[in-house]
Amino acid sequence: MTPIRVLAVASEIYPIVKTGGLADVAGALPAALREHDVATRTLVPGYPSVLNALASAETLLDWQEFYGGPVRVLGGSHDGLDLYALDAPHLFARPGNPYVGPDGHDWPDNGIRFAALARIAAEIGQGAIPSFVPEVVHAHDWQAGLVPAHLHYSNLPRPGTVMTVHNLAYQGQFSPDMLASFGLPDESYAVGGVEYYGTISFLKAGLQFADRITTVSPTYAQEIQSDEGGMGLGGLLRERSDVLSGILNGIDIAVWNPATDPDIAARFSAEQLVPRAANKAELQQRFGLDPAADALLLGVISRLSWQKGLDLLLDNVPTLLGEGIQLALLGSGDRDLQDRYQALADANPGRISVKIGYDEALAHLIQAGSDALAVPSRFEPCGLTQLCALRYGAVPVVADVGGLADTVLDVGEAAVTGGEATGVKFAPVTSEALAHALRKANLLFNDKVTWRRLQHGGMTSDVSWHNRAGQYAALYRELVATRR
Ligand code: ADP
Ligand code: GLC
Repeated sequence: MTPIRVLAVASEIYPIVKTGGLADVAGALPAALREHDVATRTLVPGYPSVLNALASAETLLDWQEFYGGPVRVLGGSHDGLDLYALDAPHLFARPGNPYVGPDGHDWPDNGIRFAALARIAAEIGQGAIPSFVPEVVHAHDWQAGLVPAHLHYSNLPRPGTVMTVHNLAYQGQFSPDMLASFGLPDESYAVGGVEYYGTISFLKAGLQFADRITTVSPTYAQEIQSDEGGMGLGGLLRERSDVLSGILNGIDIAVWNPATDPDIAARFSAEQLVPRAANKAELQQRFGLDPAADALLLGVISRLSWQKGLDLLLDNVPTLLGEGIQLALLGSGDRDLQDRYQALADANPGRISVKIGYDEALAHLIQAGSDALAVPSRFEPCGLTQLCALRYGAVPVVADVGGLADTVLDVGEAAVTGGEATGVKFAPVTSEALAHALRKANLLFNDKVTWRRLQHGGMTSDVSWHNRAGQYAALYRELVATRR
């Protein structure tokens, strides 16, 4: 097969810049696609971290005036990733979080920043860099949502476009006054264009104009077509359901490998599970939890936001204490949730412990040392932490929504389907149902044979990118073939 050329456009990419799962996907998918004869280059904003990573990059484009200042497009590679960086000091020379300024608010010019990123993607899509003319441009989330729109309104031949929704809750809405500054024509401000309830929505633009729409799990692909799950875009997604599909995320099984992981206390595998206990002991010690081997240790690694349902776990502190379950939580986000978790930890030393912050290495130890991992999300497009948990033998206790529904097999479901159970699911997403799930998990934990079986089921289930990347490759090929 001839390799197919794809330009991916993403506002974050692991291991260079990450606020969430989008970075993991953008960072891991290209290598997995290579095995399916897809050559990916990823366009990312030239944040300081990106320019550092591309120290020896080549200048491929150099323009004096682009969305308010001089820009260059640099090409180079880092850690096996082929990258283009939009070096635009007036837009991206800002350290720290890619979207939020030091005052904790979104940068006021986020619209311009990502309109420019999308525009450069469209230019590259139409041959601005002759050595790499993509056949498909793959836009990720609202930050890249204008790519299909810019291409739609240009008169030149264009590549095929794929828009992937990682989270419908973030839609990139801006004032209609900005239309011309975004480089969009007047006619685009229409219901069949970028207009969205009196605003310009970048995500809507992408969903309106992309040739294919994907999201990160089959169940989420269904949920977002409903009025509730559609978050205002359900109608459009229903209209476009013939080009909408769900492809599950995988994880990088080289980064997440308990047999070689340098960030954990003792390495282990599905066949060699005994050393895992040392990770639990280390985790209890690091978190100041009682050194009880027999207590179910529940881990959480999460952004603290409404989406993740962690207020429901707060409601369940009496359940945790009553059942003798320990909690180790690593997370950051909403002030209120941070404070409430901290207060509970202070009130329950040895039983509940939290670390507020972002710590990649500690996330690995939590996966390796927890008995179970809780993901009580109200909605979850895919979710990656439950995939890591499966691979590390931490039994996932998850809400039965989105990608969590598609990647975890509950004991009850397994009894019906004959598959190997890998975790505990609960529905509806309420405190009461979570309480029930926690009690059920504790009961299963105390039956060592069943628990081992659950761990084994998870550790041997396929959470890698290989087959899932194959689905993207097939989609790209089908798209290119239909446009010929
Ligand atoms: P989302 O993208 O909605 O935050 P995902 O489950 O898809 O959720 O991805 C989250 C990613 O971020 C995972 O790789 C997870 O390990 C990581 N992560 C989340 N919070 C933290 C944290 N506080 N410290 C370290 N890693 C974290
Ligand atoms: C989003 C979603 C998460 C998904 C990730 C990567 O951040 O919230 O469910 O796993 O994107 O696709």
